[in-house]
Amino acid sequence: MNYSKYKDIFKGEQMPFAFVDKTLLDENINNILKRSGDKKIRIASKSVRCRWVLDYILQSNNQFQGIMCYSVNEAAWLADQGFDDLLVAYPCFHEKDIKSIIPALKEGKRIYLMTDLPEHLHQLQKIASSENVDIPVCMDMDMSSTIGPIYFGVYRSSINNLDAAKRYLDALKKCPNVQLKSLMGYEAQIAGVGDNVKGKSLMNAIISFLKKKSIKEVAKRRKEIYDLCINESFNIEVVNGGGTGSLESTKEESCVTEVTVGSGFYASHLFDNYKQFKHLPATAYAIEIVRQSQNDIYTSLGGGYVASGGLGIEKLPQIYLPKEAQLIKEEMAGEVQTPFKYKGKEDLKLGDPIFMRHSKAGELCEHFKELLIIDNEKIINRVPTYRGEGQCFL
Ligand SMILES: Cc1ncc(COP(=O)(O)O)c(C=O)c1O
Repeated sequence: MNYSKYKDIFKGEQMPFAFVDKTLLDENINNILKRSGDKKIRIASKSVRCRWVLDYILQSNNQFQGIMCYSVNEAAWLADQGFDDLLVAYPCFHEKDIKSIIPALKEGKRIYLMTDLPEHLHQLQKIASSENVDIPVCMDMDMSSTIGPIYFGVYRSSINNLDAAKRYLDALKKCPNVQLKSLMGYEAQIAGVGDNVKGKSLMNAIISFLKKKSIKEVAKRRKEIYDLCINESFNIEVVNGGGTGSLESTKEESCVTEVTVGSGFYASHLFDNYKQFKHLPATAYAIEIVRQSQNDIYTSLGGGYVASGGLGIEKLPQIYLPKEAQLIKEEMAGEVQTPFKYKGKEDLKLGDPIFMRHSKAGELCEHFKELLIIDNEKIINRVPTYRGEGQCFL
């Protein structure tokens, strides 16, 4: 898409606004289906944060199955809205939070809560027995690798080997109302680390080397822990792995029943930096030019939506369109103003938009109440984000 087409489509809209280009979303969906082989695909809601979009993806193909939620309160809310098969990917502990899903469990909804420590299991057991229900849980397998002196991965679960998994199962056996139904291992160092970053050829080569080694180790660990659970007669319904950046390797593991994808649908700019795939920028936001302080220096109102995680320039928004526009290094996208330099063929005026992309996919929705959906060069719908529905989970 080019600048002037988007400008025409959104003529008259108040800024800032965020939008989804449905044609590009559809292309991303098709590409994700191809990349996932025959594995089921669970949608990571943290990277979507809009009920309409979650539902649209789920309805697009029956290979999409279930949602990976990021909080138990979100799972309770989604269950209330008619969604089912909800895997909460991060542990919860507060009694009130855990109790929020009891009504949905009693109605027969499939919801799995994440665990890796005996403390998680004991807390769930206490609540489950007092409520007279069984709570299905998922074991979080740590998928990080240590390669020589390098810790290649993130710090998540305490279960990073077979012995730790055995200790977890021993604790679980003392919790009769807690049912192990699912295993999850997220190989963040493969799925979430780009290996094709512009201007970083040495780092790209090192990352590719480490990824190759880690992929083998991850597959071995996941299979060993899976076999242990099967040998101990646990009825494992779901083995989840991967993320947008690792589909090519995660889908090769035979014990994996499903992969997870979130960021690949909107394709925020962190996901431009991978060798094995290219998704399209389906989501962006517009900020209004309100000043021109010099011949080629303009300023737009707002725009500084910085992403979470380790500090780095890659966590900042990028200008998407017009292409030649550049942020000013000393200011970048600001809290209330974003200056930029532009020397190009567009005749930019006050009141015109510039289009920006967020670094991470779902966090953008925390800044907007709605997403404008466009198709065939028209706005066809306006749908609320989680924030727009008054929901703020994390
Ligand atoms: C547990 C888990 N699975 C999968 C993913 C992948 O999500 P995405 O496809 O949005 O990168 C993440 C991202 O952080 C995650 O935490």
